[in-house]
Amino acid sequence: MNSSDLRTKFLAFFKARGHAIVPSSSLIPDDPSVLFTTAGMQQFKKYFTGELDPIKDFGSKNVTSVQKCFRTSDIDEVGDESHLTFFEMMGNFSFGGYFKKEAIIYAHEFIAKELGLSIDYVSVFEGDADVPADMESEEIWKSLGVKDVRKFGRKDNFWGPTGAEGPCGPTSEVYVRGVEVWNLVFNEYYQDKNKKLTPLKVKGIDTGMGLERLAMMVQNTQTIFETDLFKNPLSTFMHLPGVDDKSGRIFADHIRGATFLIADGVLPSNKDAGYILRRLIRRAIFHSRKLTGEDNGGGFKLSTSRTLEAVKNTISFYGNSFENYKNLLVNEKDILKIFKEEQNKFIQTLDNGIREFNRLHNSKSKVQGESGGSYKIFGKISAEDAFHLYQSYGLPREIIRDLCVEREAEFDDKGFDKEFEKHQEISRAGVEKKFGGHGLTLDTGELKAGSEEEQRKVIKFHTATHLLHQALLEVLGNEVEQRGSDITPERTRFDFTFPRKVTPEELKRIEEIVNEKIKADLPVKVIEMSKAEAEKTGALKFFKGKYSDKVTVYFIGDSLENAFNKEFCAGPHVSRTSEIGKFKITKEESSSAGIRRIRAIIE
Ligand code: GLY
Repeated sequence: MNSSDLRTKFLAFFKARGHAIVPSSSLIPDDPSVLFTTAGMQQFKKYFTGELDPIKDFGSKNVTSVQKCFRTSDIDEVGDESHLTFFEMMGNFSFGGYFKKEAIIYAHEFIAKELGLSIDYVSVFEGDADVPADMESEEIWKSLGVKDVRKFGRKDNFWGPTGAEGPCGPTSEVYVRGVEVWNLVFNEYYQDKNKKLTPLKVKGIDTGMGLERLAMMVQNTQTIFETDLFKNPLSTFMHLPGVDDKSGRIFADHIRGATFLIADGVLPSNKDAGYILRRLIRRAIFHSRKLTGEDNGGGFKLSTSRTLEAVKNTISFYGNSFENYKNLLVNEKDILKIFKEEQNKFIQTLDNGIREFNRLHNSKSKVQGESGGSYKIFGKISAEDAFHLYQSYGLPREIIRDLCVEREAEFDDKGFDKEFEKHQEISRAGVEKKFGGHGLTLDTGELKAGSEEEQRKVIKFHTATHLLHQALLEVLGNEVEQRGSDITPERTRFDFTFPRKVTPEELKRIEEIVNEKIKADLPVKVIEMSKAEAEKTGALKFFKGKYSDKVTVYFIGDSLENAFNKEFCAGPHVSRTSEIGKFKITKEESSSAGIRRIRAIIE
């Protein structure tokens, strides 16, 4: 039975028992206390509490759905047989229509009779100081012939709420072949923000059964990745039976998850859901190179086109297989465009980062020789090295960790955290120094601002000025050298050496370059290094600047190596160039002999 038949069968089973079929809600819920939809019950929270009336909205107190879900809680487990970030959850719900008895009878009937699967055992809540043991469920299961009823506590057999507060209650779980396939939640309580439980006026039922896991049972496969849900959309990439390869599984999960997030309106960014999406895409790209054998730095050609192919296949598979998805995944062109842009942004960074990783790793590995043979002692990637790869090369932490696993090098998670904190402090200290320590006024001779609003503008102009400086160098060449700058909340003024008037065409090109870089949404990062090291990077310096032995270099781009601009600078700057807005040059004039002056605004 394929996954599409399973969905249909499930919905039909509950429809025949008086349930209204409700379409999946978006992966991005209304509830601001959670980032994603993680369970089928989320869209029904207000029916459980009595705030909304199910009869009015669905014509029944009982409903059923197949809900798209996304969970980050299992992200580190992805790669084993059964864990995923994105999955589909089949569920039946009742808002005061029925309770334990019917819910357990339905579950038993569907698993044992409709699907002919054998239930290994079930579990029920064992009871604690606040919630009594669930003897009733135990008896119902036994009356149906399920003899093995196990008892567990809060951690295993109590579910919810999602978000800061909501309905929750004891659960009963159904196990097939040792895998939990169905979770029946008996919603009896409301947990408030202080974690206090109050009995709900009307008791309810909320169940969740993962389609992928059930497909694994019904199709009798060893892993979820061998079910039709993964085989079809990703077959072009996953060299079956390579599906049991960890990279293949991570790739498969992340591509599917990212595709669905984009389809529900999430864009890659550095915040919240967008940040999770960005991490999924980047990690999928990282693992894709293993699937095509392009894994030693360089040459992502094959894997990048295959990644897009996998996205395409995912869209057409889901678009055709279930009406829940037809309307959401129509915009194939946009989904592919977003993937492609993110991929292009990241490939160069990844390539350089892997090369640097290999360099560091090789330099710290030793070949030990003994008579007749030699073997390599693999080097440890120190926390400093890892942070260097993160900060200067733009490699995400989980990719550094994955590289360490591949090369049998240790990854020092705690040390990395410490490095991270240290650098955050440096960058905060830099900002505070600039703001006079209180964030009240910003007056360094170069940057002048009062209110917070003005300070924000000045910071935008400051980053824009770095972009302008670089664009001047690109268009006018090395004769350009900064002679001074003055930034207010209204404009930036930049003085530089150049022997003649800058032509209107040149000005237009300079303005264009700055705006291209703003549009590219480049990250702005800071790194602390010794003055000598910083000089070696080629970072721009102000000719009058006096620098101590330790300096901070701000760079605009994913990594120090391929940054568009890098300068000796104490900040502060925006964190992404897209925060700046539209850049416009308003005037070009002579300032003094051999020195030109440009004024520019942000619109
Ligand atoms: N709401 C039940 C579950 O997610 O398992």
